[in-house]
Amino acid sequence: MIIVTGATGKLGRMIVEGLLKNTSPDQIGVSVRDPEKASDLQERGVRVRKGDFGDGESLRHALEGASQVLIVSSNSAGASAVELHRSAIEAAKVSGAQRILYTSHMGSNPNSHFAPMRDHAATEEILKTSGVAFTSLRNGFYAESGLMLLGDALQTGTFTAPEDGPVSWTTHADLAEAMVIALTEEGRLDGLTAALTAAEALDLNALAEIASKLNGREIKRVTVTDEEYRASMIARGVPEMWANLSVGLFAASRNGEFAAVDPMLENLLRRPAISMEEFLGSRISKPMQSLQ
Ligand SMILES: NC(=O)c1ccc[n+]([C@@H]2O[C@H](COP(=O)([O-])OP(=O)(O)OC[C@H]3O[C@@H](n4cnc5c(N)ncnc54)[C@H](OP(=O)(O)O)[C@@H]3O)[C@@H](O)[C@H]2O)c1
Repeated sequence: MIIVTGATGKLGRMIVEGLLKNTSPDQIGVSVRDPEKASDLQERGVRVRKGDFGDGESLRHALEGASQVLIVSSNSAGASAVELHRSAIEAAKVSGAQRILYTSHMGSNPNSHFAPMRDHAATEEILKTSGVAFTSLRNGFYAESGLMLLGDALQTGTFTAPEDGPVSWTTHADLAEAMVIALTEEGRLDGLTAALTAAEALDLNALAEIASKLNGREIKRVTVTDEEYRASMIARGVPEMWANLSVGLFAASRNGEFAAVDPMLENLLRRPAISMEEFLGSRISKPMQSLQ
């Protein structure tokens, strides 16, 4: 049985939907914190069990009988992500799974300026010494995060952020499709993968230009210092920890940590990846057309 964690989250859910297209539901299980949110999957024949990375007992039950476990990295605030991932890997091992897959990041690096990248690198070290075959899927930077960074710039016409560098924005949909291939087509992705990215890396100036075109009005990119950005987030009520984390993202992108572009994702999908322009086009509503 293939078991996917985080199936009530965005990526995990898409992976399960993809699996359901070519795998019998009785061969799919999900480990979720709130089974109620996955009741529709249960109705479709998927095994739904409660599993929290912070609760080893629940996890061991949720992963029981797994042949492969795909661990969707945690987004838990406060708790140590690495310790949560360690307990998920441990439970997968106890379940007897022959292979563990993990949603890592293209920027995974113990010396990254962006804290989650250091957590991914530490998790990969745990995978390497787990004694179980593993695939660490080094996902491109979510296109969704680029849209989030644009924030209210679409309404205000001003896109304020620190100096940045190019980022390989990649969609959840393409990544989820690649994860399904990794789970179902043996041997196509093993160990630490190359960066799973779309075909180009774009900085925030380029995002502002694309958004301006789509929005039908100019969005001006305004650069502030890291400290100004951090202070403005805190003034808006963002917890200091998150503000610090966000600033790290810009420092890392300036350092070129998310600039790599690799053909691996498109080779896996056997088609072009969804571009940032296509993604933003599907999410930014067009200006009202004149009735004349
Ligand atoms: N590649 C990138 O650029 C990028 C950007 C941002 C994040 N990420 C990583 O990619 C992951 C998946 O992305 P996403 O968009 O699907 O995020 P998401 O919608 O927030 O989903 C995260 C999933 O992780 C689950 N989770 C969190 N803490 C857990 C715990 N202690 N035990 C078990 N499950 C736990 C959540 O459970 P609930 O459904 O119960 O909340 C949720 O299902 C994120 O969690 C994050 O680690 C990657």
